[in-house]
Amino acid sequence: MCGIVGYVGERQAAPILLDGLGKLEYRGYDSAGIAVYDGEKIRMKKAKGRLKVLSELTHDGEIFPGQTGIGHTRWATHGEPSDVNAHPHFNADNSIVVVHNGIIENYLKLKKKLKEKGYEFVSDTDTEVIAHLLDHYYRGNPLQAIIKIMHRMEGSYALGIMFRDHPEELYAVRKDSPLIVGHTKDGCIIASDVPAVLKYTRDVYFIENEEIVRMKQDSMEFFNVDEESMEKESTHIDWDVDAAEKGGYEHFMLKEMYEQPKAISDTFSPRLKGKEIVIEELGMSDEDILSVKKMMIVACGSAYHAGVTGKYVLEGMARIPVEVDLASEYRYRDPLIEEGTLIIIISQSGETADSLAALRDSRSRGAKVLGIVNVVGSSIAREADNVMYTWAGPEIAVATTKAYSCQLIALYLLAMKFAQVRGTVTDGELERYIEDLKRIPDQVEMLLNNKNRIQKFANRYLAARDVFFIGRGIDYAISLEGSLKLKEISYIHSEAYAAGELKHGTISLIEEGTLVAAVLTQEKLYKKMISNMVEVRTRGAFVLAVTNEGNGDVKRAADYVIYIPETNQYFTNSLAIIPLQLFGYYISVGKGCDVDKPRNLAKSVTVE
Ligand code: BG6
Repeated sequence: MCGIVGYVGERQAAPILLDGLGKLEYRGYDSAGIAVYDGEKIRMKKAKGRLKVLSELTHDGEIFPGQTGIGHTRWATHGEPSDVNAHPHFNADNSIVVVHNGIIENYLKLKKKLKEKGYEFVSDTDTEVIAHLLDHYYRGNPLQAIIKIMHRMEGSYALGIMFRDHPEELYAVRKDSPLIVGHTKDGCIIASDVPAVLKYTRDVYFIENEEIVRMKQDSMEFFNVDEESMEKESTHIDWDVDAAEKGGYEHFMLKEMYEQPKAISDTFSPRLKGKEIVIEELGMSDEDILSVKKMMIVACGSAYHAGVTGKYVLEGMARIPVEVDLASEYRYRDPLIEEGTLIIIISQSGETADSLAALRDSRSRGAKVLGIVNVVGSSIAREADNVMYTWAGPEIAVATTKAYSCQLIALYLLAMKFAQVRGTVTDGELERYIEDLKRIPDQVEMLLNNKNRIQKFANRYLAARDVFFIGRGIDYAISLEGSLKLKEISYIHSEAYAAGELKHGTISLIEEGTLVAAVLTQEKLYKKMISNMVEVRTRGAFVLAVTNEGNGDVKRAADYVIYIPETNQYFTNSLAIIPLQLFGYYISVGKGCDVDKPRNLAKSVTVE
């Protein structure tokens, strides 16, 4: 997810581009760039880092005169954040320039063909392919060249394009990535999202798939892929910028919870090839996979909790021993790493100091390290032997939701891959797991839409002092994350316990009205969990249960039940965590806490 902007009009474009990009940094902030036609040529400036680096380099756009321009703020997917990989991207003679939000899935194939035709590439990005592809098909008519490349590109894109031969024109086109355009009082503006244009217009056109827009200072035309012009209705936007950045959601956390279905499918889709699990970036042959004797998962916070679930899934499905460790403990305990141990470092930011140190410690002991990371080009991603990216996109809220959910998906894929190679699952089982995986996005969407019931329940516990989460097996891992979500953003004391452990001490804390959240999604452990629920209930606890649809038994041991749709025993975490995220969120909202920036916490702890 990146942010693109474009402007053609009477005013200087650069300041408008930089201002618009500033409103889109929540979509990506690892590098930025602008390109402006200065009356003779298209000039470009791009820089790694937050937008302010580019603003300083261009003196807030003052040294970039010109009335037609495009700009971009990046969330790297293909090619690490760098000045060269930043957008915009030129063709060879700088006569065509492009900014892009999305992923060109067949870019390697197109790149190979273009290289055979003599094209040279300066960056590692999929986007540079677009500039050279346009160059290849351009014969003086920008619209026809754009239509030609649309027929050849696979994937998602929202593009802003300029042609030196047509300096007073700005082009935009979209497929599966958001794009809006609007008339301003002195020109036309394009952007990935509403916040970037609100200062200049409140009437925008939402561009549909495969629609092309040609803009001049005083005109805007819409075309389809048959080069036929089209009429479109504009929409009036009455949001303020803050609300717009959140896409109309009250908080980034709620917005990111609702982005989970797409993030989850973006994370597994590139790795599912029919009945095969293909994780190219693993860099491991089947022999390599068979030579792995043990795994050690090391991480912090919610990433550690994803690792705990990973242990159950990897051991259960692939029958490989897995240890899970807190990075802050692991880095100082002089770990015993035997031959054939694969170290897995999980991190959303890829910059967490303890996790990075654990990585370096492991490598210094000669271990192979796989990173499961969300931020492309981050330290952990760069320093791991191999990195498996979670495609959650930028996560702004301190309390992670979508990145955590994508970490689970990455671990499921790893388990399915190892199980497939080690032959610990049948083809039939693997097929079912693949079908179950594909159902998760819709199931998560359904659970999110169930939010009113959870909000009502949460509002009854705004004054809670202590909350306990209990579960067995994977449900214990779910409880750990459920409890952290509540603690992080509502400041209510909460603990998660392996349910069987309760009677060895903690049950002494249970008294009249204590809220106990019981997670029971593992059929073989239902009975055990129900007796643990009865234990706390007889001591006065109010029991909230999260369980699988059809588990009617639970009613006799719970006061309030939330059902999750049917899936296999290994994937329940991805569903059961949704009501617990919502529970924490609505308690935080109900208490008037700063949901997105909770006290004392940071999105990434880069110091020890
Ligand atoms: C904390 C974040 O600072 O770090 C948590 O608030 C996160 O949400 C933890 O789980 C680990 O961060 P990362 O980036 O290494 O996954």
